[in-house]
Amino acid sequence: MTEVVHEAHQPKAATRWWRDAVIYQVYVRSFADGDGDGVGDLVGARGRLGYLADLGVDAVWLTPFYTSPMADFGYDVADYRDVDPVFGTLADARALIDDAHAYGMRVIIDVVPNHTSDRHAWFAAAVQAGPGAPERGRYIFRPGRGASGELPPNDWESVFGGPAWTRLPDGEWYLHLFDHRQPDLNWDSPEVHEEFTAILRFWLDLGVDGFRVDVAHGMVKAPGLPDIGTAGQVELLGTAVLPYFDQEGVHEIHRGWRRLLDSYEGERIGVAEAWAPTQERLARYVRPDELHQAFNFHFLKAPWDAAVMRVVIDESIATVSPVGAPSTWVLSNHDVKRHVTRYGGGEAGVRRARAAALLMLALPGSAYVYQGEELGLPEVLDLPDEVCRDPQRLRAPGDGRDGCRVPIPWAHAEPPFGFGPPGVADTWLPMPRSWAPLTVEAQAGDPGSTLSLYRAALRLRRGHAALGDGTMRWHGSPPGTLVFGRGEDFVCTVNMTGEPVELPRPGDLLLASAPVAQRGRSVVLAADSAAWWAAGRA
Ligand code: BGC
Repeated sequence: MTEVVHEAHQPKAATRWWRDAVIYQVYVRSFADGDGDGVGDLVGARGRLGYLADLGVDAVWLTPFYTSPMADFGYDVADYRDVDPVFGTLADARALIDDAHAYGMRVIIDVVPNHTSDRHAWFAAAVQAGPGAPERGRYIFRPGRGASGELPPNDWESVFGGPAWTRLPDGEWYLHLFDHRQPDLNWDSPEVHEEFTAILRFWLDLGVDGFRVDVAHGMVKAPGLPDIGTAGQVELLGTAVLPYFDQEGVHEIHRGWRRLLDSYEGERIGVAEAWAPTQERLARYVRPDELHQAFNFHFLKAPWDAAVMRVVIDESIATVSPVGAPSTWVLSNHDVKRHVTRYGGGEAGVRRARAAALLMLALPGSAYVYQGEELGLPEVLDLPDEVCRDPQRLRAPGDGRDGCRVPIPWAHAEPPFGFGPPGVADTWLPMPRSWAPLTVEAQAGDPGSTLSLYRAALRLRRGHAALGDGTMRWHGSPPGTLVFGRGEDFVCTVNMTGEPVELPRPGDLLLASAPVAQRGRSVVLAADSAAWWAAGRA
């Protein structure tokens, strides 16, 4: 077999936990409800830490639980040092962090530095103070264009659709790259820097192991706020350098934050949510003196196609290797359609999603698991309009992000599937009745379930010296398949075609996403399947 080796990738570094951690994303609102109001919370999440430890993840990433009017479900923060009552209290946060540590899991929390809520005390003061007041200097206020300032200051568009500017009754406009209830902070202001340093310290002192930095590419805007000159900017996101994204200045902020993280014991980390136009530009966020990891959305966006997937994997590894950072792999999150559905939905979607999990967990680096993917949950596509609450959908009608945020089904045969305490009827988004076979309870005892596959894969990954951080090498394989080795004794095979494919037997079967037929010295991989092999023992 021909082999292509990624020579440049860093050797396994056993002590640096984040280089190969499997990090489980808890979208707090939809994970588990402790108080019975139909909305997930910290007490609920704390009660399910045993499940996560048993699943075998290394760390938990909690989405924002700060005080918030929930215009963007917590990504609009009104107080960065407190917990919203719907999610619990500061004491609940502390208890959750402590319990996770007792289970041997680390805790990463979201920090949202690009914008605050319009209910943040700073924004309220800025609105009140009026044009020209120093309070406005913490945000991006400008006079409008046109004879009486009736036109926005420039042509920038919100990521959620429509203009990125809103006008106040006093005539000034403020910038919001997202919803109008999420005003952008002005990172030219020293006060903003100082405030965020204090916020990070607050949570580091409370014991968090790191931060997922929301919109890490957005805080700095090009001087003069120049026009872009084209409409439909949402199409350019992540493909072009825009005057409001991926500006050079953001890197200086990340360097400062890295120094702060490094001043704490225990390898506290920063993870960039950065939509960079190229892999090379993404790698700049994880240079040795910047953040530790960046989400690899190129992998998430790749279609179910072996040739494309191989290129994306090669590029992902090749671009972070020179800066010494680990690759990250992610298939789903709270902002995108769940991958069961992206890969075609129905039985084929589930088959592919199971195979994708084994592919992802065999690749070198760190992996992110979005709550519910271990249950094979699909996107909920038929939510009635009246229950959909995502501000993106409300500003720019389309699929929206509600369908990937439906609460997790834990047990029982009927909604709300044990999401909260007994006797509670409605969840904040309705759960499909068809999820009865997908609950944790239904899958836990079934060795063929997706939950069992994830558990087995995570257990093997943790115990196998070749998995996690390290190198990989491609083996020659038929079109539509991927075969690669890790270390001396591990091979992963993936058949991304809709037909069975015969291969020379790579070794002893460790784990498979679908039954593998063994024929003497050959094996037949089922359509849309992946398998892990102990190599060299054929
Ligand atoms: C988060 C989104 C949020 C946006 C604005 C994102 O990248 O993941 O859920 O709407 O930032 O804060």
